[in-house]
Formats: sequence, structure tokens, C-alpha cells
Amino acid sequence: MVRKLVILGAQWGDEGKGKIVDLLSENFEITVRYQGGSNAGHTVLVNNSKFILHILPTGILHSHVTGVIAQGMVVDLDVLDSELTDLEKKGILYRNRLYISDRVHLVMPYHKLLDRLFEKKKGIGTTLRGIGPAYMFKFGRKGIRMVDLEDEKRFHSLVEENVAFVKDICEKVFCESHDLDVEKIFENTLVKYYKYKDMVCDVSRFLLEAEKSMLFEGAQGTMLDVDMGTYPYVTSSNSSALGLSNGTGLPPKFFADAYMIGVAKAYTTRVGGGPFPTELTGEEGEKLRIAGGEYGSTTGRPRRCGWLDLVALKYAVRVNSLDGLILTKLDVLDSFEEIKVCVAYEYEGSKIDYFPSSAETLKRIEPVYETLKGWLKNTKGIKTPKDLPAEAENYIRFIEEFTGVPVIMLSTGPRREEFLWLRELPVKEVKFL
Ligand code: IMP
Repeated sequence: MVRKLVILGAQWGDEGKGKIVDLLSENFEITVRYQGGSNAGHTVLVNNSKFILHILPTGILHSHVTGVIAQGMVVDLDVLDSELTDLEKKGILYRNRLYISDRVHLVMPYHKLLDRLFEKKKGIGTTLRGIGPAYMFKFGRKGIRMVDLEDEKRFHSLVEENVAFVKDICEKVFCESHDLDVEKIFENTLVKYYKYKDMVCDVSRFLLEAEKSMLFEGAQGTMLDVDMGTYPYVTSSNSSALGLSNGTGLPPKFFADAYMIGVAKAYTTRVGGGPFPTELTGEEGEKLRIAGGEYGSTTGRPRRCGWLDLVALKYAVRVNSLDGLILTKLDVLDSFEEIKVCVAYEYEGSKIDYFPSSAETLKRIEPVYETLKGWLKNTKGIKTPKDLPAEAENYIRFIEEFTGVPVIMLSTGPRREEFLWLRELPVKEVKFL
């Protein structure tokens, strides 16, 4: 029986994790977000309501599930407030089943301002949600944590110090003026804090002592991990499995018996700058973008699209020690006569079969493709493995053989009910609650 399930993005984010977490969290008592912040956009369609959750754990949509915002996240209280207000409007009650770590760092207005200024200078295409600067402050020991709001006087002086510091950066480095107002920031933050104060607690202790089934919901994807991804074209948190322990405050051993699932699209997308070996810039890329509706759920930006990169996917399997994959959006490939998959890279005249550490190397490699026959049949909404065209089955087998892990489930559309299990779960005693 799976008591701890981890769901991670196995590519560059936007793999469709929101829908999968929504689906599987029904079987769990607690769901946890543990890194990132409002840069994430987990889209879930329930009946006729569309939810895009940026900060809240997706499991909160189930009334019996407790949601946890753990310490590795950076939280913008304005975004949290608007998400919770939206839930209320849609009739979802969350009081007494949402906990927020007192150790989370706050994303403040000056972080968003800095994000914009940094992007103007030498941008990588961030979501402009202040994520990078909030983590910079955290690791530079200038951050403000939720627990700091308990003491208003101290909080006020921290805001004062930070605003003075940012003002200097604006004026001296960027020669820009700013409209940061200490009192406004102070008051607005406290108003939001007092609204949700009763949810703030020591989440790591709560989780350690809970003895309940838990689902850990990764945001972004492995290739955007600050250490394991395509640095510096990454987000500022550990969005691979590496972020689990520091993001929750739970010891690494806690996750030793967790079941690890990677979510991957049947092709590849990326938003923002950075190397993308299998990117298609011509007609085929446009065809994928249109068929897949590939526009960012947080920023609305068109996503870059390309063929499935199996070298990168195999790397994600290794980094996260994945037990299985869930494949999403296979139907987007329905109208392709031929489908390519990248099985190696060519670098300076030699073939390499590993994912390079350097983004500069990645920019210079050429993908080596294998071409598979398309199925030219509808797979959207199919309900049983028997309905899979032989060529689609072949495509899935190819992925499994290359990566060495089973594809356990297919998502066949955006709705909760559009999925099918492909495999008996490989570990005998694994059974979702
Ligand atoms: P940041 O996380 O806003 O600092 O952006 C850093 C990089 O990560 C940019 O390339 C973003 O497009 C990308 N990114 C951040 N969050 C997501 C996400 O949820 N999905 C896909 N890409 C993301």
C-alpha cells in the first residue's frame, strides 16, 4: 500500500502534474507542496469549473484532504489570498484542513520589482513572480519568514532594512526609481497574515507525527532544478526529488519507502529561455503548440515545443530514482505520420548518451533521432489499453525500454476522468489506498 507518493515533473515543467495530483490525491489524507511558489500553475478541470492553483496544493480540491504548504516554498500572500478567495467562491471550504509552514519565506513586492529589473538586464525568461529574488534573499539571509510576522516591531524593521537595500539596488545599479512604500507593504502583509494566521504552524513536525498517507506534489520539473537542471536557465528551487527533504523539513530517511512517479508529456515543451535540444521551430513545432494548446498557465506565454527527448527523460529517471512514469497528452501526436524521439546527442562529432551538466554544451549538441511510425487514430479519451493503436503501444514500449521504467498510466484528456492505467503497478504490494 502506498502511504507516501511523490509526483514530480520529469521534463521542463507543464507536464500536466496538476491533473494527475488531483486524480491521485483522492486516495491520500495529506497533500504537500514543498518548493517553488506562484511561478507554478497547476490546472485542474472539475465538472465545469477550471482551477489554476499557483500556491495551494492541488489535493485541497478534495474535501477530505489536508493541504500543506511546506517550508521550501516562497509564498506571495496576495496570491494565496486570491486563490483562497476563489476557492470560497466556488464553494470549497478549506478552514481546518490547510496548514502553512511558519518557516516559509515571503515573496514581497520588492522581490517582484527585482525580478523585473534583473530580467530587463540579462533575462532568462522568468515568470516575473519574484521567485528568484525571494530565494536570493533566503540564501543571502535577508529573507522574511512567516514566523517573523509574529513580532510586528521586528517585522517592520525587517521591511525597512529590505526596502532600503532594494532602493539602493534600484538607484545605484539600475538607475531606476521605485515606488516601494514601507508602511503600505507592512500593513498589507499583516492584513493578509492575520486572515490566515490560524493555519500557520511547524509543518515539519506536523508531518513527521501525522502517521497519515501523504502525496508530495512537485512543481516545475527536473530540468528546471537549480542544481540538476539546465543552469542558469532554471528556477531557483530544487524541483527534482532533491527538494523533498529540505523543502519539507523531513529527514531524507522519511522518503526511503516513498513511491516516485515522474510525469512526462509524450513530447517536450519549455517556457522561457535556455537550451532545448529537440526544439522544433518550424511548422511541426507550431502544429504541436496548436494541438497541445501549449500556452503557459501562469504567464500565457506560448510554449516552445519539440520531440520527446529520451536522453533527458532517462536523466530525470536517474536523478529522481523514479519507479514509474505517467505519460500525458499522447493524443497531441494523433495526427503525426511519423514521430521522432531523441535517443542520443551528437557533440563535436561524437555521439554522447548522457545529459551534459553545462547549458553551453547543451546549446551546441545536435539530437540524434529515431523515427517511429505514427498511429493516425484518435487516442483522446480512450478508456482501456485495448483501445490503444498498435503504433501508440509501440511508442510507449520504446519509452519504457529506453528509460528502464514502466509507463504506469496515460492521461487521455484534461478532465479528471480522462485517464487509464496501463500497468499493474510493478511492486506487488503497491496499491493506492
Ligand atoms: P522563475 O521560476 O519564475 O524564476 O523562472 C525561471 C525559469 O523557470 C523560466 O524559464 C520559467 O519559464 C521557468 N518556470 C518557472 N515555473 C514554471 C512552471 O511552473 N512551468 C514551466 N516553467 C516554469
